[in-house]
Amino acid sequence: MPPTSPTPAFELTRPHTAPLDPPPLYADLREKSPVTRVTLHGGRLTPWLVTRWEDARAVLGSPAFSTDPSLPGAPQDREGQQRSPRGFFQQYDGSVHTMMRRTLTREFMVKRVDALRPAIARLTDELLATMSELSGPVDLVEHFSLPLPSLVICELLGVPYEDHTFFQEQSKTLVDRTATAEESLKAFANLGEYLLGLVRAKRTAPGDDLITRLAGQVDEGGITDQDAADLSAFLLFAGHETTANMIALSTVTLLENPEQIPRLFGGPDQVAVAVEELLRYLTIVHFGLRRTALEDVTVGDVTIRAGEGVIISINVANRDPEFFAAPDDLDLARADARRHIAFGYGVHQCLGQPLARAELQVVMPELFRRLPDLKLAVPLEEIAFKQDTSVYGILELPVTW
Ligand code: HEM
Repeated sequence: MPPTSPTPAFELTRPHTAPLDPPPLYADLREKSPVTRVTLHGGRLTPWLVTRWEDARAVLGSPAFSTDPSLPGAPQDREGQQRSPRGFFQQYDGSVHTMMRRTLTREFMVKRVDALRPAIARLTDELLATMSELSGPVDLVEHFSLPLPSLVICELLGVPYEDHTFFQEQSKTLVDRTATAEESLKAFANLGEYLLGLVRAKRTAPGDDLITRLAGQVDEGGITDQDAADLSAFLLFAGHETTANMIALSTVTLLENPEQIPRLFGGPDQVAVAVEELLRYLTIVHFGLRRTALEDVTVGDVTIRAGEGVIISINVANRDPEFFAAPDDLDLARADARRHIAFGYGVHQCLGQPLARAELQVVMPELFRRLPDLKLAVPLEEIAFKQDTSVYGILELPVTW
């Protein structure tokens, strides 16, 4: 089918009237031109945009595409972007990726993560108890949705929570699309340096935590102190910014669809389905997953040539009517919600997804159980959504109860 217009810019701004839906242009492209050229950086790059669920899975599942942002033709977030050190293994393919990811797989096995549920429940309880003593409109982001995943990842890693202002600032830079390549590299380096200090400190004062175990892997050979620090930095960043936004956005989504809130109280199976639907519906990684073709590959009706960049729009793919009935409706009982690709697909599929699921499954029911009269303190149109970050979210969420 012919494209709808001259090459559109890859632009994410959503109308104020529909802040929980992907920009309308992309639903149109998915229907009329599902693999199409878009422009980035004022037209200096023209990567392909993939918007259908099936095509998205085909690209993400194929070894013919690389995640290295420094390849010529890579559809970079920031011009001039270099590759981060190998501890940030999402940016690596093949054996380096496998080797680095393997150092962490045991940590994120479902059984292991399930053992963290009591700690997640305790932290949720403590934060809600403190917050519910406040009066007047309260910012849910500041008092609940951001501290909760930060506290959890700190406990898992063995990072002192007192340092949260520092690492939250670095994470903010990392997801900020307006930050330069240098600023982003500096934020990675700052986190890496901070964690290197902790890796070394754990040698003399070991704890029952992930950083201590990574330090142990260094001693057995295979990875270096710097790898252990960079791996921990990657987790610290990936582990709180995403889940924090998911909690805040899920809260707004449920307040906009209050008839569905009782699904959160129907027991673990219903909660699990509800969380999958929230993940599908919101798909917070809205800036697209980025790949570069290493060889010529046909996707849909289009041949993507070696060296060309591809943006895989997982949030648009998760609203594909070919795979999800009435995809723009929130349905917390949707039986096939788990087919979403909000955590990606293929070898880079989110390593932390068992933890993200555990947190959301504990937190969302508890929030509405404790505060049954929770409501937004301002109209939806006045909420400051994060349009300019690679992870969609909310800057400030004033609520009352
Ligand atoms: C709701 C919360 C989360 C969402 C929506 C999410 C989403 C994603 C997505 C879409 C990817 C794939 C990137 C790609 O293919 O290029 C990814 C990768 C990754 N995520 Fe998550 N994530 C979440 C939470 C977490 C948490 C809690 C952690 C760790 C504690 C984590 C750690 C990672 C890591 C290490 C990778 C890289 C995997 C690889 O390249 O092999 N994520 N995540």
